[in-house]
Amino acid sequence: MRLSLSKRSLAVAATATLAASLVVVATSTANAAAKLDNPYAGARMYVNPDWSAKAASSGGQAIANQPTAIWLDRIAAIESGSAGSNTMGLRDHLDAAVDQGANLIQVVIYNLPGRDCAALASNGELAPTDIATYQSDYIDPIVEIMGDPAYANLRIVTVVEIDSLPNLVTNVSPRPTATPECDVMKANGNYVQGVGYALAQLGALPNVYNYIDIGHHGWLGWTDNFAASGQVFLQAARANGAEPSDVHGFAANVANYGILDEPFFEATTVVGGKPVRESTTWVDWNNYVAEVEYAQAYRQHLVGIGFDAGLGMIIDTSRNGWGGPDRPTRASTSTDPNTFVNESRLDRRIHLGNWCNQAGAGLGERPKASPASGIDAYAWIKPPGESDGASREIPNDEGKGFDRMCDPTYAGNPRNNNNMSGALPDAPLSGHWFQAQFEELLANAYPPL
Ligand code: GLC
Repeated sequence: MRLSLSKRSLAVAATATLAASLVVVATSTANAAAKLDNPYAGARMYVNPDWSAKAASSGGQAIANQPTAIWLDRIAAIESGSAGSNTMGLRDHLDAAVDQGANLIQVVIYNLPGRDCAALASNGELAPTDIATYQSDYIDPIVEIMGDPAYANLRIVTVVEIDSLPNLVTNVSPRPTATPECDVMKANGNYVQGVGYALAQLGALPNVYNYIDIGHHGWLGWTDNFAASGQVFLQAARANGAEPSDVHGFAANVANYGILDEPFFEATTVVGGKPVRESTTWVDWNNYVAEVEYAQAYRQHLVGIGFDAGLGMIIDTSRNGWGGPDRPTRASTSTDPNTFVNESRLDRRIHLGNWCNQAGAGLGERPKASPASGIDAYAWIKPPGESDGASREIPNDEGKGFDRMCDPTYAGNPRNNNNMSGALPDAPLSGHWFQAQFEELLANAYPPL
């Protein structure tokens, strides 16, 4: 049993007795005993100097001191001086965090074999069968560096493999949204094995806090996706040496644009005689309309199926502000359900399935610990200003493909119900600096800067 499992309840019952705490300590493993219930609580968070300098010199002085995550998006990113726009390796960042006097750093683990099987913009360097390389050349060196006693006082938050496990539910045969690549990853088991290995190895370090990616409400918020994905998370948390206690929490909305809360309606709001859940193309039978309610409900569900009762959620708020002149200020008065929702919603996307460089988006809530019940933090996991993908084919040696969801002229596919992509034009490769998007994020920030 992890200490954190009981620590949340102890925190709730502020009158917990010393005797009770001693029982908890006695039943905890040595490693788990050091873990905090919420690593973000009271933390001094690391500011990535690379991102900070880019933000400051690109008009973003007002936010340049915000903490953003480090993305280990290829093996070479572990070492300093690697190719691409970032020159600092993992050790450099950890050293810089210690120098800054920070005690929390956020790292995205993102290099699975056959990565990003339902899209092309962030396909990675490892082939679908490269699980041995993933373990020995990617995870093992990361664990070795993070395990250095020099970093023992840093709380290391790892966001584990975004856009992977949910694809094994939503984008596989016989669904119309299936891709051949996701069918391969489901059949060979390497997403589950890879995530299990990462969880087990990283989770064994006393100061590492694993959060598994759970997509966002516009992906897994439907009944048939929600529970089925929960089972895949559990399967991964029991694979390749991992146990559910290696999972500290889950991360929602990473690199996505889902709003935290829709103040003017719920899925159950009745307009024209029916709940908007049933009667609108925007909600379209989803059980959720926003990320906080989604993350809280998922937390409860995951605890119910076997994850630790102390789970905490992270929500990426780097680009889900939706401020600016087009932000509705009151509920629509229309009695037509679609008009009502379209005039009331803060999320101004064309369709919830749109994910690439969304036009009109703004910076969201600034990073913040314990913002709501069950939520460990609002965090900036996707560094604002970094592209989601190129809007046209750009030859590169980073394994990045051209996904037409990043092309503003694209009319869509089954995964966004054949809607326009809503992407900004002239975007560079994913991960590269996209100045026009950065300026729009600043202009449409909510809360405003
Ligand atoms: C995308 C890119 C990756 C980058 C990350 C953060 O996933 O593929 O290279 O590090 O976004 O911007």
